[in-house]
Amino acid sequence: MQILSTATELRNWSRKERKNGKTVGLVPTMGALHAGHASLIRAAAASCDSVAVSIFVNPTQFGPNEDYNRYPRTFDADCALASANGAHVIFAPAVEELYPKGAATFVEVEGLSNRLDGLSRPGHFRGVATVVTKLLIAAEADRTFFGQKDAAQVSVIRRMVTDLRIGTEIVVCPIVREPDCLALSSRNAYLSPEERAQALVLSRAIHNVELLFAAGERDSATLIAAARETFAADPPVRIDYIELVDWSTLQPLETAAPGALFAVAAYVGSTRLIDNTILG
Ligand code: PAJ
Repeated sequence: MQILSTATELRNWSRKERKNGKTVGLVPTMGALHAGHASLIRAAAASCDSVAVSIFVNPTQFGPNEDYNRYPRTFDADCALASANGAHVIFAPAVEELYPKGAATFVEVEGLSNRLDGLSRPGHFRGVATVVTKLLIAAEADRTFFGQKDAAQVSVIRRMVTDLRIGTEIVVCPIVREPDCLALSSRNAYLSPEERAQALVLSRAIHNVELLFAAGERDSATLIAAARETFAADPPVRIDYIELVDWSTLQPLETAAPGALFAVAAYVGSTRLIDNTILG
């Protein structure tokens, strides 16, 4: 497996693969890879001939008081996991490579960027859209793989790829969960054993809403109230948002329909976790 560190190297690799008749897949990540990331890499390897995994902890998507400095960095283990799941290339640029001295260009997806996570993390989706644009321009991939875990991120990136006419197909992979249903996340590493147990309230709330929807409940306020009740039974976990929205516009829905996004974010201690389901 090759390790590349400049956008030019990644572009040259991708062009060579495609010239040789191969399809190229890209899996953007911030490292600290786990089984959720592995599922994306395997999906990429299953549908593309050549797979690049990017590992870059993107400073512009972290707020000033967020965890950029302490975000887990496990590069050697990440390379082993990526290789074992079918990656051919790791793209691991330095910050100055993706943000050259004097960098002044940002991508803003209006309307979507300040919804859900973007509301509680101002500037977050601007940072995500900017770095993903840089990665997509460099990789020239046929397909790019994202997890439904970050469902609002998917909406922002789909809008951006359509608007900028970037020629890559966005593929969304299902949420990978622990056996007890906690959604895998690099940030789960921050949880104490007690918090790890408390964190289950997120998937429990999501599951209860899925059951209510399956039983025919369609009223958004009722579904959100049911999720709030699940959280009320676990006072140490602080809700950030609970929302039922149209998955492509992220606008709130009064009535749930199949394909709607039900999403929650909550603080377990100081760790912010997210989870969601696409109803129906
Ligand atoms: P990161 O949090 O490392 O996630 C990389 C990809 O893995 C994202 O598409 C995310 O949705 C997916 N993923 C994370 N946990 C998952 C799980 N439990 N099941 C399935 N997929 C999962 O998302 C980012 O990085 C960054 O914002 C990035 C897009 C790389 C831009 O910096």
